[in-house]
Amino acid sequence: MTDNNNIYPIFDRMLTREDKETLLKQRSVMIWFTGLSGSGKSTIAIALERELHKRGLLCRILDGDNIRSGINNNLGFTEADRVENIRRIAEVSKLFIDTGVITIAAFISPNSDIREMAANIIGQDDFLEIYVSTPIEECERRDVKGLYAKARKGEIKNFTGISAPFEAPAHPALMLDTSVLSLEESVNKLLELILPKIQKNNI
Ligand code: ADX
Repeated sequence: MTDNNNIYPIFDRMLTREDKETLLKQRSVMIWFTGLSGSGKSTIAIALERELHKRGLLCRILDGDNIRSGINNNLGFTEADRVENIRRIAEVSKLFIDTGVITIAAFISPNSDIREMAANIIGQDDFLEIYVSTPIEECERRDVKGLYAKARKGEIKNFTGISAPFEAPAHPALMLDTSVLSLEESVNKLLELILPKIQKNNI
């Protein structure tokens, strides 16, 4: 039997996000990369984290293959599983954001509803949607993990861009096509967008 009489919430005594941001001398934000497999999301996320870290800013990357081999290792690629994948990632991201950490997510997150759900969990004001818009022809040409070839042969079902849909964001904060931009150019564009939002100069 549940007895709520003996529960004493401690939220009023917990330190706030603002306290943590002051400690870290930064403002936290969610940098949410979306795009096809092989578009360059993880590569850009890693390079961005290094640049921010060099500037004394604390970040956390959450990345598709890592999260799917840990907290989300019971999920596949049906629509329902992708929704649950992104829901958990958004909840975890929120914990980092509330700890003052700049949080960088690199997931296909293949449609507007899924990304909207993530933005709502995290908070629209903190959510920066970055579309890594590398064309599928280029992603397939690279085929870093050999998955496009398998998907073409029918060895992987529901593969995004081949046998499952990808819906491009309508109004991303930034679009990065890595078939045109160098890694350095992509990171510079991101820094220009992000640095004014995360630097806390008044403390
Ligand atoms: S998401 O759609 O739920 O956001 P997520 O980013 O976590 O996907 O995982 C994508 C990664 O899983 C891809 O980069 C690829 O390595 C791998 N993968 C395995 N099967 C599939 C599939 N059917 N569709 C897309 N990616 C897949």
